[in-house]
Amino acid sequence: MEKIIELKKVYKTYNIGEIKTNALDAIDLNIYDGEILVIVGPSGSGKTTLLNAISGLDDVTSGTIKYGILDFTKLNDRVKTKFRKNNIGFIFQTYNLLNHLNVYENVKVGSLLSKDKTDINDILKTVKLEKHKHKEIYQLSGGEQQRVSIARALAKNPKIMFCDEPTGALDEKTGKIVLQSLVNINEKYKTTIIIITHNPGIALIGDRIIKMNSGCIVETIKNDFRIKPKDIPWG
Ligand SMILES: Nc1ncnc2c1ncn2[C@@H]1O[C@H](COP(=O)(O)OP(=O)(O)OP(=O)(O)O)[C@@H](O)[C@H]1O
Ligand SMILES: [Mg+2]
Repeated sequence: MEKIIELKKVYKTYNIGEIKTNALDAIDLNIYDGEILVIVGPSGSGKTTLLNAISGLDDVTSGTIKYGILDFTKLNDRVKTKFRKNNIGFIFQTYNLLNHLNVYENVKVGSLLSKDKTDINDILKTVKLEKHKHKEIYQLSGGEQQRVSIARALAKNPKIMFCDEPTGALDEKTGKIVLQSLVNINEKYKTTIIIITHNPGIALIGDRIIKMNSGCIVETIKNDFRIKPKDIPWG
């Protein structure tokens, strides 16, 4: 697989009073086109910090983050925002939907952000929401709302999707449906997907799993046999 992102010696240091914490401590990491990469690790280990660093939502203290030949750490905010707009989709633990718009309209908002659009009805089908497309957000379950947020992120046809605990607020059944939507997207559009999770079972749907602890990547595991979300041991 082709390397699309390369992190070298990335540090993120917080100074609180006298105390320094390396939320990211010398991170070296490659991300490959079309892979599902899962990040696991205990609370406070730096997972969200890493995701925010890679997406440029947050500046790093030192090190380089390259997208191809583009060094992200050297770009100004305006250029980074534009790059994100065109290339990156986000899914958060909380769905951040627009409650005064219906399902279709929420997804449409995502497509307005970019020239390179995917077909909205096609996306709604991929995340199994076609039946719900005229519903208001409050008429949906948590899992359905999360799938709207996936559809919205997907509507601009991003190259990469960053997902921070996408199933954190969901029960096993809905969590697995949401993960199946992400797998469908990866298979259908070849989108690179990075998923943070607390649930070690979820790691097995990825091509690679990185384990973090105290700001470091302590282990990288290659997984040659991605399991189906329905077969995840939920724990
Ligand atoms: N703005 C901030 N100021 C100071 N310290 C911070 C800040 N943001 C994060 N940290 C610290 O950086 C470390 C990594 O935090 P991070 O949010 O990346 O953890 P995480 O692995 O995502 O945890 P969780 O699983 O609980 O979401 C933690 O020790 C946290 O307290
Ligand atoms: Mg986090």
